[in-house]
Amino acid sequence: MAEAWLRDEDEALLAAARLARERAYAPYSRFPVGAAVRAADGRIFQGCNIENASYGLTICAERVAVFQAVAAGVRQLVAVAVVGPGDEPCRPCGACRQVLREFGLEMRVIMAGEDGPVEVTTLDELLPRSFGPDHLGPQPG
Ligand code: THU
Repeated sequence: MAEAWLRDEDEALLAAARLARERAYAPYSRFPVGAAVRAADGRIFQGCNIENASYGLTICAERVAVFQAVAAGVRQLVAVAVVGPGDEPCRPCGACRQVLREFGLEMRVIMAGEDGPVEVTTLDELLPRSFGPDHLGPQPG
């Protein structure tokens, strides 16, 4: 369920996502999105959407942020903020929900537009009964 209240750390993550949005490369959709993930150790990693003339190669802001974190050695994410254009909170697409789930089943999700309301929920609410690494049994590495 969406919650009206925001913690200080949510505000900081949102601010990071808003900054990342300024670096979005979205000449085709003109829908710039910024994201930021918080690692369990408090570090923040940013992402923006990066489109391509071959449209299908576009990657969403959330996945860029997650991949930045994983490439830095982080495997546990506790929160994500996503900011899109307009007044509506920007919701992560289905593909990004699945990618986020891989590294943070209990993740807090903060969603916003340029203006308007901020929504806070959990990944479990956005992707209930999901499939994840635990369903594959023990994996090497
Ligand atoms: N997009 C994101 O980056 N994140 C979302 O949560 C929704 C969609 C991007 C993908 C594409 O570049 C543009 O927004 C329009 O779909």
